[in-house]
Amino acid sequence: MTRILGIETSCDETSAAVIDGAGDAVALRSLVILSQDVHRIFGGVVPEIASRAHLTSVVPVVDQALREADLGVRDIEAVAVTNGPGLVGALLVGVSFGKALGFAAGVPVVGVHHMEGHLFATALEHREAVPPFTALLVSGGHTLLLDVEAWGRYRLLGSTRDDAAGEAFDKVAKLLGLPYPGGPHVERLASSSDPGAYRFARPMLRRDQMPGDADYYDVSFSGLKTAVLNAVRGEGQLSDLNRGAIARAFQDALVETLVEKTARAAEQFGRARVVLGGGVACNRTLVAAMERRLGALGATVFAPSLRLATDNAAMIARAGLFHLERGEKAPLDLNAYASLPLPGLVEASERRPGDGVVRRGRG
Ligand code: KG4
Ligand code: ZN
Repeated sequence: MTRILGIETSCDETSAAVIDGAGDAVALRSLVILSQDVHRIFGGVVPEIASRAHLTSVVPVVDQALREADLGVRDIEAVAVTNGPGLVGALLVGVSFGKALGFAAGVPVVGVHHMEGHLFATALEHREAVPPFTALLVSGGHTLLLDVEAWGRYRLLGSTRDDAAGEAFDKVAKLLGLPYPGGPHVERLASSSDPGAYRFARPMLRRDQMPGDADYYDVSFSGLKTAVLNAVRGEGQLSDLNRGAIARAFQDALVETLVEKTARAAEQFGRARVVLGGGVACNRTLVAAMERRLGALGATVFAPSLRLATDNAAMIARAGLFHLERGEKAPLDLNAYASLPLPGLVEASERRPGDGVVRRGRG
Protein backbone atom coordinates (compact mmCIF):
# COMPACT_ATOMS: atom_id res chain seq x y z
CA MET A 1 0.00 0.00 0.00
CA THR A 2 1.41 3.36 -1.03
CA ARG A 3 0.25 6.91 -0.29
CA ILE A 4 0.93 9.15 -3.27
CA LEU A 5 0.72 12.87 -3.85
CA GLY A 6 -0.18 13.73 -7.47
CA ILE A 7 0.61 17.06 -9.11
CA GLU A 8 -0.77 18.30 -12.45
CA THR A 9 0.20 21.60 -14.11
CA SER A 10 0.28 20.77 -17.84
CA CYS A 11 -2.24 23.37 -18.99
CA ASP A 12 -4.55 25.74 -17.15
CA GLU A 13 -5.48 23.74 -14.06
CA THR A 14 -3.26 23.66 -10.98
CA SER A 15 -4.18 20.43 -9.26
CA ALA A 16 -2.99 18.24 -6.39
CA ALA A 17 -4.44 15.02 -5.01
CA VAL A 18 -3.70 12.26 -2.55
CA ILE A 19 -4.52 8.62 -3.21
CA ASP A 20 -3.59 5.46 -1.39
CA GLY A 21 -3.81 1.80 -2.16
CA ALA A 22 -2.25 -0.98 -4.15
CA GLY A 23 -2.95 -2.44 -7.59
CA ASP A 24 -6.50 -1.58 -8.65
CA ALA A 25 -7.70 -1.13 -5.05
CA VAL A 26 -7.11 2.58 -4.73
CA ALA A 27 -8.89 5.23 -2.67
CA LEU A 28 -9.01 8.93 -3.47
CA ARG A 29 -8.23 10.84 -0.26
CA SER A 30 -8.34 14.39 -1.60
CA LEU A 31 -8.47 16.33 -4.84
CA VAL A 32 -8.01 20.07 -5.32
CA ILE A 33 -8.37 21.66 -8.76
CA LEU A 34 -7.76 25.35 -9.27
CA SER A 35 -8.90 26.44 -12.74
CA GLN A 36 -7.22 29.53 -14.14
CA ASP A 37 -10.21 31.58 -15.24
CA VAL A 38 -8.01 34.41 -16.47
CA HIS A 39 -7.61 32.77 -19.90
CA ARG A 40 -11.29 33.36 -20.68
CA ILE A 41 -10.46 37.00 -21.31
CA PHE A 42 -8.11 35.96 -24.10
CA GLY A 43 -10.29 33.23 -25.61
CA GLY A 44 -7.59 30.60 -25.07
CA VAL A 45 -4.72 29.62 -22.80
CA VAL A 46 -1.84 32.14 -22.70
CA PRO A 47 1.23 30.00 -21.87
CA GLU A 48 3.23 32.53 -19.84
CA ILE A 49 0.21 33.56 -17.80
CA ALA A 50 -0.50 29.87 -17.16
CA SER A 51 3.07 29.23 -15.93
CA ARG A 52 3.04 32.22 -13.60
CA ALA A 53 -0.37 31.26 -12.22
CA HIS A 54 0.90 27.74 -11.48
CA LEU A 55 3.88 29.24 -9.71
CA THR A 56 1.73 31.24 -7.32
CA SER A 57 -0.84 28.45 -6.83
CA VAL A 58 1.11 25.23 -6.61
CA VAL A 59 2.12 25.52 -2.94
CA PRO A 60 -1.33 26.47 -1.59
CA VAL A 61 -3.02 23.86 -3.80
CA VAL A 62 -0.72 21.07 -2.56
CA ASP A 63 -1.16 22.33 1.00
CA GLN A 64 -4.91 22.19 0.64
CA ALA A 65 -4.84 18.66 -0.83
CA LEU A 66 -2.75 17.46 2.14
CA ARG A 67 -5.06 19.21 4.58
CA GLU A 68 -8.17 17.67 3.03
CA ALA A 69 -6.55 14.25 3.32
CA ASP A 70 -5.66 15.07 6.92
CA LEU A 71 -1.98 14.46 6.23
CA GLY A 72 1.34 16.23 6.46
CA VAL A 73 4.21 16.17 3.96
CA ARG A 74 5.90 13.49 6.08
CA ASP A 75 3.00 11.09 5.46
CA ILE A 76 3.52 11.07 1.70
CA GLU A 77 5.39 8.04 0.37
CA ALA A 78 5.84 9.13 -3.25
CA VAL A 79 5.22 12.05 -5.61
CA ALA A 80 3.71 11.63 -9.11
CA VAL A 81 3.91 14.61 -11.42
CA THR A 82 2.87 15.24 -15.03
CA ASN A 83 6.02 15.79 -17.08
CA GLY A 84 4.43 15.90 -20.55
CA PRO A 85 2.83 16.47 -22.95
CA GLY A 86 1.59 20.00 -22.38
CA LEU A 87 2.74 23.61 -22.17
CA VAL A 88 6.37 23.27 -21.30
CA GLY A 89 6.57 26.33 -19.04
CA ALA A 90 3.48 25.15 -17.16
CA LEU A 91 4.85 21.61 -16.82
CA LEU A 92 8.19 22.92 -15.51
CA VAL A 93 6.47 24.43 -12.48
CA GLY A 94 4.93 21.12 -11.40
CA VAL A 95 8.05 19.09 -12.25
CA SER A 96 10.40 21.44 -10.36
CA PHE A 97 8.09 21.58 -7.37
CA GLY A 98 7.47 17.83 -7.36
CA LYS A 99 11.17 17.00 -7.53
CA ALA A 100 12.02 19.48 -4.77
CA LEU A 101 9.30 18.07 -2.54
CA GLY A 102 10.35 14.48 -3.23
CA PHE A 103 13.99 15.33 -2.56
CA ALA A 104 13.21 17.18 0.66
CA ALA A 105 10.90 14.44 1.94
CA GLY A 106 13.25 11.68 0.84
CA VAL A 107 10.58 9.88 -1.21
CA PRO A 108 10.59 8.69 -4.84
CA VAL A 109 9.25 10.87 -7.65
CA VAL A 110 7.70 9.49 -10.81
CA GLY A 111 6.97 11.40 -14.05
CA VAL A 112 3.55 10.70 -15.57
CA HIS A 113 2.36 11.08 -19.16
CA HIS A 114 -0.72 13.32 -19.07
CA MET A 115 -2.76 11.11 -21.42
CA GLU A 116 -1.90 7.96 -19.50
CA GLY A 117 -3.33 9.83 -16.51
CA HIS A 118 -6.62 10.34 -18.40
CA LEU A 119 -6.62 6.60 -19.15
CA PHE A 120 -6.51 5.78 -15.41
CA ALA A 121 -9.01 8.43 -14.26
CA THR A 122 -12.18 6.36 -14.69
CA ALA A 123 -10.73 3.47 -12.66
CA LEU A 124 -10.73 5.74 -9.60
CA GLU A 125 -14.54 5.71 -9.65
CA HIS A 126 -15.46 2.46 -11.37
CA ARG A 127 -13.86 -0.72 -10.08
CA GLU A 128 -14.57 -2.45 -13.40
CA ALA A 129 -12.96 0.21 -15.59
CA VAL A 130 -9.79 -1.89 -15.75
CA PRO A 131 -8.11 -3.69 -18.66
CA PRO A 132 -8.76 -5.21 -21.02
CA PHE A 133 -10.84 -2.43 -22.59
CA THR A 134 -11.21 -0.12 -25.55
CA ALA A 135 -10.32 3.47 -24.64
CA LEU A 136 -11.29 6.74 -26.23
CA LEU A 137 -9.38 9.72 -24.85
CA VAL A 138 -10.79 13.02 -26.02
CA SER A 139 -9.25 16.19 -24.66
CA GLY A 140 -8.35 19.68 -25.81
CA GLY A 141 -5.02 18.55 -27.26
CA HIS A 142 -5.48 14.87 -28.09
CA THR A 143 -7.89 12.34 -29.55
CA LEU A 144 -6.64 8.79 -29.04
CA LEU A 145 -8.37 5.49 -29.71
CA LEU A 146 -6.55 2.69 -27.90
CA ASP A 147 -6.86 -0.99 -27.24
CA VAL A 148 -5.74 -1.51 -23.66
CA GLU A 149 -4.75 -5.11 -23.16
CA ALA A 150 -3.30 -4.43 -19.70
CA TRP A 151 -2.15 -1.35 -17.82
CA GLY A 152 1.08 -0.34 -19.53
CA ARG A 153 0.27 -2.18 -22.79
CA TYR A 154 -1.42 0.16 -25.20
CA ARG A 155 -2.15 -0.38 -28.87
CA LEU A 156 -2.69 2.97 -30.56
CA LEU A 157 -5.40 2.28 -33.13
CA GLY A 158 -6.22 5.78 -34.27
CA SER A 159 -5.77 9.43 -33.51
CA THR A 160 -6.75 12.74 -35.03
CA ARG A 161 -5.02 13.87 -38.18
CA ASP A 162 -5.62 17.54 -37.38
CA ASP A 163 -7.73 19.05 -34.59
CA ALA A 164 -8.42 17.23 -31.33
CA ALA A 165 -12.09 16.71 -30.43
CA GLY A 166 -11.99 19.33 -27.64
CA GLU A 167 -10.16 21.75 -29.91
CA ALA A 168 -12.95 21.32 -32.49
CA PHE A 169 -15.53 22.17 -29.80
CA ASP A 170 -13.51 25.22 -28.76
CA LYS A 171 -13.05 26.48 -32.33
CA VAL A 172 -16.71 25.96 -33.21
CA ALA A 173 -17.68 27.81 -30.03
CA LYS A 174 -15.58 30.74 -31.18
CA LEU A 175 -17.25 30.70 -34.62
CA LEU A 176 -20.65 30.74 -32.91
CA GLY A 177 -19.64 33.59 -30.59
CA LEU A 178 -19.61 31.44 -27.44
CA PRO A 179 -17.10 31.79 -24.55
CA TYR A 180 -13.92 29.76 -23.99
CA PRO A 181 -13.58 26.87 -23.22
CA GLY A 182 -16.34 26.15 -25.69
CA GLY A 183 -17.18 22.49 -25.10
CA PRO A 184 -19.81 22.92 -22.37
CA HIS A 185 -21.37 25.93 -24.15
CA VAL A 186 -21.67 24.13 -27.47
CA GLU A 187 -23.12 21.10 -25.69
CA ARG A 188 -25.70 23.18 -23.82
CA LEU A 189 -26.80 24.91 -27.01
CA ALA A 190 -26.79 21.70 -29.08
CA SER A 191 -28.84 19.70 -26.62
CA SER A 192 -31.62 22.29 -26.58
CA SER A 193 -31.68 22.66 -30.38
CA ASP A 194 -32.88 20.90 -33.48
CA PRO A 195 -30.45 20.54 -36.40
CA GLY A 196 -33.12 21.91 -38.73
CA ALA A 197 -31.82 22.00 -42.28
CA TYR A 198 -28.24 21.36 -41.22
CA ARG A 199 -26.45 18.06 -41.58
CA PHE A 200 -22.65 17.92 -41.76
CA ALA A 201 -20.78 15.00 -43.32
CA ARG A 202 -19.34 12.53 -40.79
CA PRO A 203 -15.60 13.12 -41.14
CA MET A 204 -13.50 10.14 -42.23
CA LEU A 205 -16.39 7.75 -41.68
CA ARG A 206 -17.45 5.55 -44.57
CA ARG A 207 -19.05 2.13 -44.72
CA ASP A 208 -16.46 0.78 -47.17
CA GLN A 209 -13.54 1.28 -44.76
CA MET A 210 -11.86 -1.98 -43.71
CA PRO A 211 -9.70 -2.86 -40.70
CA GLY A 212 -6.15 -2.17 -41.83
CA ASP A 213 -7.18 0.87 -43.90
CA ALA A 214 -5.26 3.94 -42.78
CA ASP A 215 -8.50 5.80 -42.03
CA TYR A 216 -10.42 2.97 -40.37
CA TYR A 217 -9.73 4.31 -36.89
CA ASP A 218 -8.27 7.78 -37.47
CA VAL A 219 -10.45 10.88 -37.16
CA SER A 220 -10.23 14.38 -38.62
CA PHE A 221 -12.19 17.40 -37.46
CA SER A 222 -10.78 20.32 -39.44
CA GLY A 223 -13.15 19.71 -42.38
CA LEU A 224 -16.10 19.69 -39.98
CA LYS A 225 -14.89 22.99 -38.52
CA THR A 226 -14.75 24.44 -42.07
CA ALA A 227 -18.30 23.18 -42.70
CA VAL A 228 -19.39 25.08 -39.59
CA LEU A 229 -17.52 28.18 -40.76
CA ASN A 230 -19.29 28.02 -44.14
CA ALA A 231 -22.66 27.58 -42.46
CA VAL A 232 -22.02 30.58 -40.22
CA ARG A 233 -20.95 32.69 -43.20
CA GLY A 234 -23.96 31.49 -45.19
CA GLU A 235 -26.28 32.77 -42.49
CA GLY A 236 -24.81 36.27 -42.48
CA GLN A 237 -26.40 37.42 -39.23
CA LEU A 238 -26.70 34.45 -36.83
CA SER A 239 -30.07 34.09 -35.17
CA ASP A 240 -30.35 32.11 -31.92
CA LEU A 241 -32.24 29.45 -33.86
CA ASN A 242 -29.51 29.05 -36.48
CA ARG A 243 -26.74 29.16 -33.92
CA GLY A 244 -28.42 26.29 -32.08
CA ALA A 245 -29.04 24.32 -35.28
CA ILE A 246 -25.39 24.60 -36.32
CA ALA A 247 -24.15 23.61 -32.84
CA ARG A 248 -26.46 20.59 -32.88
CA ALA A 249 -25.46 19.50 -36.38
CA PHE A 250 -21.76 19.86 -35.47
CA GLN A 251 -22.12 17.84 -32.27
CA ASP A 252 -24.17 15.14 -34.05
CA ALA A 253 -21.44 14.69 -36.68
CA LEU A 254 -18.58 14.64 -34.17
CA VAL A 255 -20.36 12.30 -31.75
CA GLU A 256 -21.39 9.82 -34.43
CA THR A 257 -17.84 9.70 -35.76
CA LEU A 258 -16.30 9.02 -32.34
CA VAL A 259 -18.97 6.46 -31.46
CA GLU A 260 -18.60 4.50 -34.69
CA LYS A 261 -14.79 4.41 -34.53
CA THR A 262 -14.95 3.25 -30.90
CA ALA A 263 -17.52 0.59 -31.77
CA ARG A 264 -15.23 -0.68 -34.54
CA ALA A 265 -12.37 -1.03 -32.06
CA ALA A 266 -14.45 -2.78 -29.38
CA GLU A 267 -15.87 -5.16 -31.99
CA GLN A 268 -12.57 -5.99 -33.63
CA PHE A 269 -10.82 -6.71 -30.34
CA GLY A 270 -13.84 -8.31 -28.69
CA ARG A 271 -13.76 -5.94 -25.72
CA ALA A 272 -16.72 -5.95 -23.32
CA ARG A 273 -15.70 -2.64 -21.71
CA VAL A 274 -15.19 0.82 -23.14
CA VAL A 275 -13.51 3.52 -21.07
CA LEU A 276 -13.82 7.21 -21.89
CA GLY A 277 -11.50 9.95 -20.67
CA GLY A 278 -10.53 13.58 -21.21
CA GLY A 279 -12.56 16.79 -21.05
CA VAL A 280 -14.86 15.89 -23.96
CA ALA A 281 -15.97 12.83 -21.96
CA CYS A 282 -17.98 15.39 -19.91
CA ASN A 283 -20.28 15.60 -22.93
CA ARG A 284 -23.48 13.80 -21.97
CA THR A 285 -24.65 13.41 -25.55
CA LEU A 286 -21.40 11.61 -26.39
CA VAL A 287 -21.65 9.33 -23.35
CA ALA A 288 -25.34 8.53 -24.00
CA ALA A 289 -24.66 7.76 -27.68
CA MET A 290 -21.71 5.53 -26.67
CA GLU A 291 -23.91 3.67 -24.18
CA ARG A 292 -26.60 3.08 -26.81
CA ARG A 293 -24.28 1.92 -29.59
CA LEU A 294 -21.82 -0.08 -27.47
CA GLY A 295 -24.63 -1.45 -25.30
CA ALA A 296 -26.13 -2.98 -28.44
CA LEU A 297 -22.80 -4.76 -28.97
CA GLY A 298 -22.90 -6.08 -25.41
CA ALA A 299 -20.22 -3.72 -24.07
CA THR A 300 -20.39 -1.53 -20.96
CA VAL A 301 -19.29 2.09 -21.19
CA PHE A 302 -17.47 3.74 -18.29
CA ALA A 303 -17.19 7.51 -18.21
CA PRO A 304 -15.54 9.56 -15.48
CA SER A 305 -17.42 12.21 -13.50
CA LEU A 306 -16.78 15.82 -14.57
CA ARG A 307 -14.01 16.41 -12.01
CA LEU A 308 -12.07 13.35 -13.10
CA ALA A 309 -12.73 13.79 -16.83
CA THR A 310 -11.06 17.19 -17.06
CA ASP A 311 -7.48 17.79 -15.97
CA ASN A 312 -6.84 16.69 -12.40
CA ALA A 313 -4.01 15.36 -10.24
CA ALA A 314 -5.90 12.28 -8.97
CA MET A 315 -5.47 10.57 -12.34
CA ILE A 316 -1.77 11.48 -12.31
CA ALA A 317 -1.33 9.94 -8.86
CA ARG A 318 -3.22 6.82 -10.02
CA ALA A 319 -1.06 6.34 -13.13
CA GLY A 320 2.01 7.13 -11.01
CA LEU A 321 1.11 4.34 -8.59
CA PHE A 322 1.13 1.87 -11.47
CA HIS A 323 4.63 2.93 -12.49
CA LEU A 324 5.94 2.98 -8.92
CA GLU A 325 4.62 -0.54 -8.38
CA ARG A 326 6.69 -1.60 -11.38
CA GLY A 327 9.75 -0.23 -9.64
CA GLU A 328 10.04 2.90 -11.76
CA LYS A 329 11.47 6.05 -10.25
CA ALA A 330 12.50 9.26 -11.97
CA PRO A 331 16.08 10.47 -11.71
CA LEU A 332 16.62 13.93 -10.22
CA ASP A 333 17.16 15.34 -13.71
CA LEU A 334 13.56 14.50 -14.71
CA ASN A 335 12.55 17.04 -17.36
CA ALA A 336 9.32 18.42 -18.86
CA TYR A 337 8.34 17.82 -22.50
CA ALA A 338 5.85 19.61 -24.76
CA SER A 339 5.34 16.37 -26.64
CA LEU A 340 6.01 12.91 -25.30
CA PRO A 341 5.11 9.49 -26.71
CA LEU A 342 2.63 7.49 -24.63
CA PRO A 343 4.64 4.92 -22.65
CA GLY A 344 3.84 1.25 -23.14
CA LEU A 345 2.81 1.38 -26.78
CA VAL A 346 2.71 -2.12 -28.16
CA GLU A 347 4.88 -2.63 -31.21
CA ALA A 348 3.35 -2.50 -34.67
CA SER A 349 4.60 -5.98 -35.43
CA GLU A 350 2.65 -7.58 -32.59
CA ARG A 351 -0.32 -9.56 -33.81
CA ARG A 352 -3.85 -8.60 -32.89
CA PRO A 353 -6.84 -10.92 -32.82
CA GLY A 354 -8.65 -11.14 -36.14
CA ASP A 355 -6.62 -9.90 -38.97
CA GLY A 356 -2.90 -9.96 -38.90
CA VAL A 357 -0.65 -7.14 -38.02
CA VAL A 358 -1.24 -3.87 -36.20
CA ARG A 359 -0.17 -0.81 -38.11
CA ARG A 360 1.62 1.89 -36.20
CA GLY A 361 -0.72 4.74 -35.34
CA ARG A 362 0.25 8.38 -35.34
CA GLY A 363 0.74 10.13 -32.04
O1 KG4 B 1 -8.82 17.02 -20.70
P1 KG4 B 1 -9.03 18.47 -20.65
O2 KG4 B 1 -9.56 19.06 -19.38
O3 KG4 B 1 -7.71 19.25 -20.96
C1 KG4 B 1 -6.78 18.83 -21.89
O4 KG4 B 1 -5.95 17.95 -21.54
O5 KG4 B 1 -6.86 19.34 -23.02
O6 KG4 B 1 -10.01 18.84 -21.85
C2 KG4 B 1 -10.42 20.14 -22.12
C3 KG4 B 1 -11.32 20.12 -23.33
C4 KG4 B 1 -11.66 21.52 -23.86
O7 KG4 B 1 -11.42 21.54 -25.24
C5 KG4 B 1 -13.15 21.64 -23.54
O8 KG4 B 1 -13.86 22.46 -24.45
C6 KG4 B 1 -13.60 20.21 -23.64
O9 KG4 B 1 -12.56 19.47 -23.04
N1 KG4 B 1 -14.89 19.97 -22.95
C7 KG4 B 1 -16.01 19.57 -23.56
C8 KG4 B 1 -17.02 19.53 -22.57
N2 KG4 B 1 -16.46 19.90 -21.38
C9 KG4 B 1 -15.14 20.15 -21.63
N3 KG4 B 1 -16.26 19.28 -24.84
C10 KG4 B 1 -17.52 18.92 -25.17
N4 KG4 B 1 -18.54 18.88 -24.29
C11 KG4 B 1 -18.34 19.17 -22.98
N5 KG4 B 1 -19.35 19.12 -22.11
ZN1 ZN C 1 -6.07 16.64 -20.21
